[in-house]
Formats: sequence, C-alpha cells, structure tokens
Amino acid sequence: MNLILIGYMGSGKSTLGRKLAETLQYPFIDLDDYIEEQEQLSIPELFKVRGEIYFRKKEHEYLKALLQEQDNVVLALGGGTPCYANNMDLITKDENTKSFYFKAGIKELTNRLKHEKENRPLLNRFKTDDELMEFIGKHMFERSAYYNQADVVIPVDNTTELAVLDQVMSHLV
Ligand code: S3P
Repeated sequence: MNLILIGYMGSGKSTLGRKLAETLQYPFIDLDDYIEEQEQLSIPELFKVRGEIYFRKKEHEYLKALLQEQDNVVLALGGGTPCYANNMDLITKDENTKSFYFKAGIKELTNRLKHEKENRPLLNRFKTDDELMEFIGKHMFERSAYYNQADVVIPVDNTTELAVLDQVMSHLV
C-alpha cells in the first residue's frame, strides 16, 4: 500500500511525511524533490525557464510512473498535484493507495507561508500578508473539491505533529 499525502503548500506534507515514513520504516518520496532531481532544475527555475504548463505535465507523468512502480512508500505530493490532469482520479481509483488530506485553515496557512514565499513561484509575488491571505483563500476555494476526495481528511490546525501522525496510523490498522 502506498500512502499519499495531500494538502495546500505549508500544510506539513513533507515534514509529517518524513516522520510517518520513519515510523513505518517505509521509503519517503517528496514529489517536488523527485521532479527537481529528474529535471535537474529547482521548482522556481522550472517555472521560470520551462513554465507552469511544462511543470504540470511533468508532475503528472512522474506521479503516474511512481504510482505504477512503487509499493509501500510514503509519497508527499505538491500542493497543486491533485488539482491538475486526472491526478486525483489516478489516486482515488488506485486500490493500492490510501490518501490523506492535511487540512489547514486559511489564517494558519498564511502564517506558515508568509516567511516561506521565496521558493514558491505561486506565492512570491505577494507583498503584504493581506494579499497573501486573499490569494490563499481563493485558491483553497478552488482546490478544496480536489483535496476533499482523499480517503481521510485530517485537520492540522491547533494540534501537534504527534497527534496528526497518530491519526494517520489509526487508519492503517
Ligand atoms: C505548488 C506547490 C508546491 C510546488 C509548486 C506548485 C502548488 O509544492 O509543487 O511550487 O501549485 O500549490 P509544496 O506544496 O510542496 O510547496
């Protein structure tokens, strides 16, 4: 069984994913890191040099290949992965995957992301916290329908990493 972690930028997919993989003794794959390695370009460079459409195409191809090739891995997606191509369909129809949506609120995401905009090509154009929050609000409105298709939805505001991990583990028995 592959465990797929879904959520907006800053929701904790990579941090929690690493810990979950360690607990389960599974390999951990971060889709953004994987794309960077395969393409030999950082995500901001990929957006700048090749453009977002190219990035989304590659993101889809690598996701599809990983789902076919891998078993018993923890795979953290990028924040936009579930919302493009038929990526969420691939995940929900794959009987060998269990997906978890780490659901964070707009205020919490803004607080987490306001100091981490630089490496995120979709966010680095926002100057003020208010602009950032407005964008995140609209973006989450568009994206929630995809995120909510995950097998399990776990709220991550006002809780601890340990409590979130416990919740994930409780769905694995
Ligand atoms: C994106 C999220 C990023 C990365 C890219 C686009 C998005 O991943 O894939 O910058 O569309 O939300 P993280 O969620 O790991 O930051």
